[in-house]
Amino acid sequence: MDRYEELVKEIALCKNCVLHEERNMAVAGSGSIGADLMLIGEGPGAEEDKNGVPFVGAAGRLLTDMLDAVDIDRDKLYVTNIVKCRPPKNRTPKDEEAAACLPYLQRQLEIIDPKVILLLGATALRYVLSPNLRITRDRGTWHQVDGRWIMATFHPAALLRDPRKKPDSFDDMVSLKLKIRELGLDV
Ligand code: URA
Ligand code: SF4
Repeated sequence: MDRYEELVKEIALCKNCVLHEERNMAVAGSGSIGADLMLIGEGPGAEEDKNGVPFVGAAGRLLTDMLDAVDIDRDKLYVTNIVKCRPPKNRTPKDEEAAACLPYLQRQLEIIDPKVILLLGATALRYVLSPNLRITRDRGTWHQVDGRWIMATFHPAALLRDPRKKPDSFDDMVSLKLKIRELGLDV
């Protein structure tokens, strides 16, 4: 078994935080293991928990549309979440749950080694970059960390709740596309 398959199996069996208690399936991630672009959300919702695949519900459909708008192919990227098991009623993950799960994300970053990361929403921004950043203020700004380019944008579920955020979200997708072009990546 290779490193990635091993990781997926560990996540499927993981009981390192309370979120394992109510999950149907853990959701490790999906997409291309050699991807130059990684997207990181918050945690699985109901559809994801049912199917074991991230971003397949309503927010996932909007995410696909956002990527389509700037001609980024979902097949060429890798998508995952801060926590791999669905929080009850889709509540925000707690600090101890994120802390328990982050070593898996760390391993995903080592194996997949993306050059560019798009953080979807406040939770991903908090745990990947810093709790001192704010999504409304700091979205759309590029950060260079460990040789990777990282930017946060609104979570698609936030766009569903408040469509007035869509123009800013589109600006961020254009900025993502430009970064991919500038770096000459195959996405
Ligand atoms: N919201 C997320 O943050 N992740 C998913 O996989 C689905 C919805
Ligand atoms: Fe394990 Fe992460 Fe699921 Fe918690 S959320 S049980 S740490 S896989």
